[in-house]
Amino acid sequence: MLNKLDKAVLQLDRALQTLVPKAAKADRPSPAHPLPEAEFSASERRHAVGLMRINHTGEVCAQALYAGQATTAKLATVRAEMEHAADEEIDHLVWCEERLYELGSRPSILNPFFYGASFCIGAGAGLISDKLSLGFVAATEDQVCLHLDKHMAALPAQDQRSRAVLSQMHIDEAKHKQMALDSGGYEFPKPVMQVMTLVSKVMTQSTYRI
Ligand SMILES: [Fe+2]
Ligand SMILES: [Fe+2]
Repeated sequence: MLNKLDKAVLQLDRALQTLVPKAAKADRPSPAHPLPEAEFSASERRHAVGLMRINHTGEVCAQALYAGQATTAKLATVRAEMEHAADEEIDHLVWCEERLYELGSRPSILNPFFYGASFCIGAGAGLISDKLSLGFVAATEDQVCLHLDKHMAALPAQDQRSRAVLSQMHIDEAKHKQMALDSGGYEFPKPVMQVMTLVSKVMTQSTYRI
């Protein structure tokens, strides 16, 4: 049984791994690796960077959300599921970060803020109930899948490397959504989903630029 201090140290380690550039290590190699690099005009490159920066921040939020939930989840099985999903999200985080550097850019400077906010939301949902917290995972993953669909269509046509990353992420996120529902998560009603869409707009519009 870990005491409170051990848990706090583990949380800090997770946060630093997420926020310090190049600190996290992926389990699986990036799906971009086998594909050729493309030629871009300046505006195409800017657009690819903006989209990949949004996806990277999305993964920062996923890390924080799962970490927050894992600290407050009541059932050990739910906690284990959250931790497993968070491990898979590390791959996504690393792949997006790698791609940003390949494109000559860097992650968003707003990431520490989004990490903190998502951690609180996750911990809060976990405090209320596991069903709510799992419902939140399902709803979040659902939103992420919608974003990924849009981004895959919006990337410059020749950017196969970014598209390969997003396509594998889409497969994983859909699986996370199903896992959360199968474990007893609520399916959120439409109005709640609309609020979530609004909140995610704040994130996507700010991190596209900075
Ligand atoms: Fe992810
Ligand atoms: Fe996910």
